[in-house]
Parts: sequence; C-alpha cells; structure tokens
Amino acid sequence: MRPDSPAPVRLEEYRPPAYRISTVDLDIRLAPRAAKVRARLALERAPGTVPGTPLVLDGDELRLTALSLDGRALADTDCTITPDRLEIASPPAGPFTLEIETVLDPDANTKLMGLYRSNGTYCTQCEAEGFRRITYFLDRPDCLAVYTTRIEARVSEAPVLLGNGNPVESGPVPGTDRHYAVWHDPHPKPAYLFAMVAGDLACVRDSFRTCEGRDVALNIYVEHGNEGACGWAMDSLKRSMVWDEEVFGRAYDLDVFNIVAVSDFNMGAMENKGLNIFNDKYVLARPETATDQDYAGIETVIAHEYFHNWTGNRITCRDWFQLCLKEGLTVFRDQEFSADMRSRAVKRIADVRLLKSHQFPEDAGPLAHPVRPRLYHEINNFYTATVYEKGAEVVRMLKSLIGDAAFRAGMDLYFRRHDGEATTIEAFLACFQEASGLDLDQFSLWYEQAGTPVLKVDSSYENEAGRLTLTFRQHLPPSPGQSEKKPMHIPVRFGLMGADGRELVPGGVAGAEVTGDVLHIRSPQQTVVFSGLTERAVPSVLRGFSAPVSLKTDLSEADLLFLAANDKDPFNRWEALQSVVMTTLIAATAGTARQDPVAISPALIAAFAANVADDTLEPAFRALCLHLPGEADIAREIGHNVDPDAIHAARGAIRRAVADDIAPEILATYEAMRDGATFSPDARSAGRRALRNTLLDYLGHGSDPAGAARVQAHFEAADNMTDRFAALTVLIHADLPGRAEALAAYEARYHAVPLAMDKWFMAQATAPSGATLDRVRDLTGHPAFSPANPNRVRALVGAFASGNQSQFNRPDGAGFTFVADFARDLDRRNPQAAARMMSAFRSWRALEPGRRAHAEAALRHLAAEGDLSADMRDIVERCLQ
Ligand code: PHE
Ligand code: ZN
Repeated sequence: MRPDSPAPVRLEEYRPPAYRISTVDLDIRLAPRAAKVRARLALERAPGTVPGTPLVLDGDELRLTALSLDGRALADTDCTITPDRLEIASPPAGPFTLEIETVLDPDANTKLMGLYRSNGTYCTQCEAEGFRRITYFLDRPDCLAVYTTRIEARVSEAPVLLGNGNPVESGPVPGTDRHYAVWHDPHPKPAYLFAMVAGDLACVRDSFRTCEGRDVALNIYVEHGNEGACGWAMDSLKRSMVWDEEVFGRAYDLDVFNIVAVSDFNMGAMENKGLNIFNDKYVLARPETATDQDYAGIETVIAHEYFHNWTGNRITCRDWFQLCLKEGLTVFRDQEFSADMRSRAVKRIADVRLLKSHQFPEDAGPLAHPVRPRLYHEINNFYTATVYEKGAEVVRMLKSLIGDAAFRAGMDLYFRRHDGEATTIEAFLACFQEASGLDLDQFSLWYEQAGTPVLKVDSSYENEAGRLTLTFRQHLPPSPGQSEKKPMHIPVRFGLMGADGRELVPGGVAGAEVTGDVLHIRSPQQTVVFSGLTERAVPSVLRGFSAPVSLKTDLSEADLLFLAANDKDPFNRWEALQSVVMTTLIAATAGTARQDPVAISPALIAAFAANVADDTLEPAFRALCLHLPGEADIAREIGHNVDPDAIHAARGAIRRAVADDIAPEILATYEAMRDGATFSPDARSAGRRALRNTLLDYLGHGSDPAGAARVQAHFEAADNMTDRFAALTVLIHADLPGRAEALAAYEARYHAVPLAMDKWFMAQATAPSGATLDRVRDLTGHPAFSPANPNRVRALVGAFASGNQSQFNRPDGAGFTFVADFARDLDRRNPQAAARMMSAFRSWRALEPGRRAHAEAALRHLAAEGDLSADMRDIVERCLQ
C-alpha cells in the first residue's frame, strides 16, 4: 500500500452508531444544474453514548447552503463542515432536530452514485454509500429511519415524481410551472435503500392481490416508446410475488411496487424500498431485440430485486461486511425461483458454469476474499462473484446439510426473529443451528476462509467383501491475508451406479455422518466405506454440485463416460462429460506446443454423437453438454504458465474434430430443432433454439465449406434476436464469408436500439482475431458508443477485456495497455465502472512469463498515477500484491 492510502475498514472495529435518526423528512426541489435538498433529521443520542460525544455525519462532495439545530442556525464554532464530513461538537442531551440544506448538480454527476440524470430522468443510486452524496447523514446500514419525501419539479420536465413507500399527496405548486408529490415509507430502512425518480416517463400498469388480501398496484416506468417491451418483466414480477408467498411464506408489504428502467446504471438493478431502479437491459425485451438469455436474465433480476424486499430490506445488514447476508441469500432465492420456472437441471448447470467461470478465478487470484470479508478499502469493489454467487452456494450447502424441512424452519425463525433489524451472519446461522440441532461452527468457515477447496476422491472396490471405499482429501490453498486454513465442513451428495445403470443401495455407510444422500466431510482426510454391495459400483459424488469445490476423482474415462450416459443426477451427467472434455482440451493444449495432431478419443466422440441424437433428453441440456468449456475455463484448470494462444488453437482444433466426426448427426439435429412456430420466450422453445444454435457454431467451425452458407442462411432467416445474434457471432468469430454484410445489415437495422447495438459491439470485441484490438479501438468512436454509458462500455471494452482471452492477453501486451489506458480515462468519470473493468487483470499471475511481464507493467504504470480513484487504486494495488 502507498503510504497515503486511507486506512482500511475492519470488521472487528465495528461499533454501533453513537446517535440514532428516527425520522427523515426530505424536501427535494429539482432543477438540472441545481437541485436543492432540505433534510430534516430527528436525532437522539443512542443509549450508552457518553454525553458530549460529537455527532459525525458522512458526506461526499457536498455543498452545504444552510444548517440549523432545533431551528437555530449553527455557528462555525459549533461545527466543522467539509464536503465529506459534518461534525457537531456537542449536540444536545435530549432529542433534537437537524435541518440540512445542500445543493447538488445532477447533470455533473457522472459517477452515477447519489442523484444524477439518465437521458433526462432524475434518479438516485444510494447503495452502498451514495446517500451521503445527497445530504449529510449517518450513512451506514444499521441506521434505520422512517422516510417522508417531498419531490418538486417543473411539470413539463418531470410529470412523474416517485419516492419510496406509498404516495401521500400531490398537486401543483400554485403560481408556478411546478408540481410536487409526497411519499411516505412506513418501514424503517437504511439510507442505502432510499430512492427518488422524476422524469417524463411512460407507465405500464398491472395489479396483484397478496395472500394477505392486500391489493398492490404494480407499475413499470420506461421511456416513451418502450411500453411494449415491458410485458415479460411484469409477468416475471407477478410470478415472483406468488412464488415468494408459496415457497417462503413472504408477502409484499406496501400498496405500490414501482420499477423504473434507466439507461445509465452501473449495476444490474437496485432494490430500493417500493421503488426498484433497473438497468433497462433487465426490463426491456422484445423478440426482435432480446435473446433468450436476456429474457432469462430479466426473469432472474426482477425476482432478485423483489425478493430483497424481505432478504435485504425488512431484514438488512448490520454493516457492509455482512453484504452476503442479503446478496448470497437473495441469489440463492432467485436461483431457486428460476429453477422452479424452468428446468431445474439446466438452471443448476448454468449457475455452476457461471460460478466456475467468474468466482473460481476470483478465488484463485490476488482479488480473492472471503464470502464475508474482514477488511476493505472500498466497499464498491466487494459486489463480487464471491459475495453473490459463492454466498448463494453457502446457503445451498446449509440446506443440503440440514435438509429441506429444517432449512424452511430456520428461514421462518430468521424472518420472525430479525424482522425490522440490521443483523449479521452469526444471527442468521444461529437460526439454522436452532432449527436443525446441527453444530454449524465448522460450517461457518465457509464465510471466513477464501479460496476454492480442492477435494480429491480416491475409490477402491473390493469384490469379495462387496465394499466400496472412498477416501476424501481436502486442501484449501493460501489466499491474500490467510496462509493457514482449517478443514471445511463439506456436503457431498452421492449415489452409487451399478453396471446396468441402476442406482445401488449400500447395506451400510461408515466413516461419515449422512443426511439423506449427503455425506458430511469434515476432516482433512476422511475414509468412507459403503458395505453390502453386490456388484462393482461407480461412485457419483458431488451430485448437483453440492459444494463449491474443485473436485478431483480417480475415475477412468470409461467410468466418467458411463456416468455421462447413465447417472441419475443430470448435473453429474453433464459434469462427467465436461471432465472428459476438459482433460482432452488440456492435453491438446500441451500438444499444440509440440505441434501434435489433435487427439480425441473415439469413446468421447461416440458420447457426443449419442448426446446430439438423444431425443429423450431436453434440448437445453444437450446444448450444455455439447458446449465446450471456454478458453478462460481451460486456463483456470491449467492454472499456471498459461499460453492463451495455445488454448485457443487447441480448443479450435477439438471443436473442428467434433464438427467433422459427427457432421451427419449435427446436421440432422440442427434441422430437427427448426421451429416453425412464432417466437415464444418459454424455456422449452428457448431450449430448442439453444441446441440448434450450439450446433450452428459447430457447422460454422467445421471443415465442410457448406457450413458457411448455412450460417449465412441462418442469419438471413432469423425472425428473432436469439437466432440472429447467434449467427452473427459465428460469422464473425469463424471469420466466414458474408461477415461484413451481416455486420452492416445488423447495424442498419438496430443503429437506434442501444441494447441491440451492445450485442453488435460485443460480437466484434470478442472475435479471436489479431485485428480485433484495432477494431475495438475504432469502435470507441462509433456514434452508438459512449464512454458515459456503462452498458456500452461493458459491451465493447469490458467484453474485450473479460471475454476475449487470446486478444486481451496478446503476447505483445497491447491488449493490456489498451484496457489500462481506457480504464484510466474512465476512472475520471466513473470510478466504479473503471475498477470493475480492471478486475479483468485478476488472473495475470497465471500467465506465461512474457505476457505476465506485460500485464505487470500495465498495472505498475497505473499504480504510479497520482490521482486514481479509491476504487481503482484498491483493485490495482490488490492485483499487484
Ligand atoms: N443491491 C443490488 C442487487 O444486488 C446491486 C447493486 C449494488 C446495485 C450497488 C447498485 C449499487 O440487487
Ligand atoms: Zn442483490
């Protein structure tokens, strides 16, 4: 750390606030360059606070225009005021009222934190520490207050005025061209859940009656012209509301639920109480502009934000170290929701793929941190795959270890006991310990220890004795700040497969506690014996990916392919095939260096062929089986001395071999998956498209020259975005004839639809070609591109950095320099977006020495800059540590 870095925030230094704020009355008068905010705070000393303790409020770039305490203006001697802090030396002993007036410039706010304007609409973003950019406040999640918000603006500029909670009154401001609205939120909440929106927006309305008999108005606000693209989001919202009542017993608690879609937003969406604000990417969908993946994303994010109403809002976090308390749990809930809406097996595979491709590399590199960190410099950088996705896995493991009934009882207890509180992981776990009787001390290490445990399983079968012995060895590598690790409590869901594909039931299991079909693995080395078997059993372990570990078994390729064809657990069928494919890809990568011809076993080819042709399996599942692991996945498994060009070449060669070896099967199924019906986003239709488009990728990358024409025809015949974008991507990535025409046709069609242009940028930014970097550089000057819009930035430069292994990691280092320079500029405008982009460097140490040196030079160059934001400095310095 540089000597001038501010001190980190530490979990063990948590102290409850010295003062309490019971009510907040806001009066917000909007104008483009000068929005006036008057905040009236009802304060009192917290019990236990020594009289005379100063009151310290947080600020961030604030301009104070008036300040009074109990109606009297404060003298300079009574307080110290900076843009970042307001301190009152000795506040009154009893309750008092503080009135603060600040003036903000929403148009100048490019950080998209606090109050800003997006395409003319005023909106706010306060998580994690954005409320302090609106007024001075105890901006911490354990300060819960009841908010009343009055918003005023010119009628013509902002006919729609929205706040948290329920609408109270509204009307014109007599004698002016302005109007106002008052909103009241009866539920005490932390400041990060505050929101307001004002603008000229269209509204799509619906309603919902809760199981408690409350009629709720549901409104989705969008820019005029987008009303027709809200149907799927509204449908997803209503299904989420039903699901939370049925599965978790949770009903909605206000008379309105408002969603606003904005086009400039740093994240996916935000769960502000009663007024969710969304990145428009997660609201707007039409068959012409959104892919099946977009539809699925909308369903998930709508559900996620809605579910936060109970897990996050009614029960919130005591401090930001507890972020996973709301995020991990809410991701778990949205995953379960989507699993119930779609195919559970397909959803689980998709979630595990995401975990492995995003969270595992984070856990293996310099940015690794525990699900509940103990220290941070910049909380914005902890909205990570580890907190979200691994946090969800921890909740899932808890459920596996204690069983469904105890899990539900634990959740019920949590809601009953902590409603209205700001609480901790310890309090959460205590509910499940009480509900189940299981000691969760060792389990809680999942929140404390960073890194992905390696779980080795060796098996031996003794024929005479009818006994299968599994030896489990767990190892957790060191991570930043944690050199010594303790053994974890790992749930291993298992099954035993007999030769004819039947599930074998052992006479007894010794060596581990068992809950249902879950083994409790707790020791560094643990031997589990299954007895009373009448035939050799192939063990199927870690079914459903029951723990976020890196599993290494001693199963032969034959046993794995047997599981791939026969396992009763669809996840493990997929995983077994992936594991054979991964071994093949790693061997092929090593072989590229020696210029070996590609080797792919006939048994694996046969397994692919069987899969393509197996109509008893869901198409979406078959698509996942046929999808080769990505280049970053292969790099992760190789782990060190990574040569991205060798990986790219090897993966390409294997793909071509598969495409050529089973060409007839691929073509037959490609034709069979053709769908004559009009587009529907449902999971079944989407699954057929997924399989057909996966096969299209093989057709485009095979040796048969007819493939190119097929891809072109697919592009031209497409009547929905899923098919059109799939074909466009293959045309570009396989560098097929017709590529330039397709790009031009797409651009002509979609130049005025920003979310569709994002796909156009992305397809080009991820092309594995030496010309890509120059192309990306050129596209930063395209009229549809804007560095001010986070979606555009992510689609072009973010996709290049995180989704293009061979070109970001160019051997000459030019990819690193370009991204670092771009992030450097972006940092001046939007530090959060810039820091996020730089996390693409998180695996730099695993590269071969030449590339590693270039990456390090780019990072060091940045680190030497004097005026990096706290966000950027934190990422760059941790990457270098
Ligand atoms: N809390 C949001 C979610 O996960 C994410 C978010 C974090 C949005 C910070 C904006 C800022 O639902
Ligand atoms: Zn969330």
